[in-house]
Amino acid sequence: LTPADYYAALGGEDTFRILVDEFYAGVASDPLLRPLYPEEDLGPANDRLRKFLIQYWGGPNTYSQERGHPRLRQRHAPFRITHAEREAWLKHMRHAVDILELSPELDKMLWDYLERAALFMVNSEQ
Ligand code: HEM
Repeated sequence: LTPADYYAALGGEDTFRILVDEFYAGVASDPLLRPLYPEEDLGPANDRLRKFLIQYWGGPNTYSQERGHPRLRQRHAPFRITHAEREAWLKHMRHAVDILELSPELDKMLWDYLERAALFMVNSEQ
């Protein structure tokens, strides 16, 4: 399977739009996470996360055309991310992945990645 095959199997752009919209609906009302987002409008952050995930999963590389190399740990360095923030992030993501009703195989593939990526972003012990 090529990256483009994974992207198509996941449902292409529509899937990532639903995923990230659901995720940010959760973030919008989260007392721990919402204050971390510097902008009042979560729309631009939604765009960046959606484009990044589309690129990572084999879709168009619009993210890097607009933002360059992801360097995600570095980009998260300004925000204090402990295990509490990671758990809150994953809670909203889990809800969003559930909405997609993917096959068990695709669900596991996507979820394993999100869990690992979220662990990688932790940059503070407390
Ligand atoms: C940006 C928080 C995990 C991908 C951001 C921003 C915050 C944030 C506050 C800035 C909003 C913006 O301007 O875009 C968190 C927290 C996490 C987390 C609390 C908990 C572990 C992740 C993970 C991924 C990710 C696991 C990828 C799978 C991104 C991307 C951006 C971003 C792509 C935009 C980077 C850019 O181009 O500037 N995140 N994040 N984040 N995050 Fe996270």
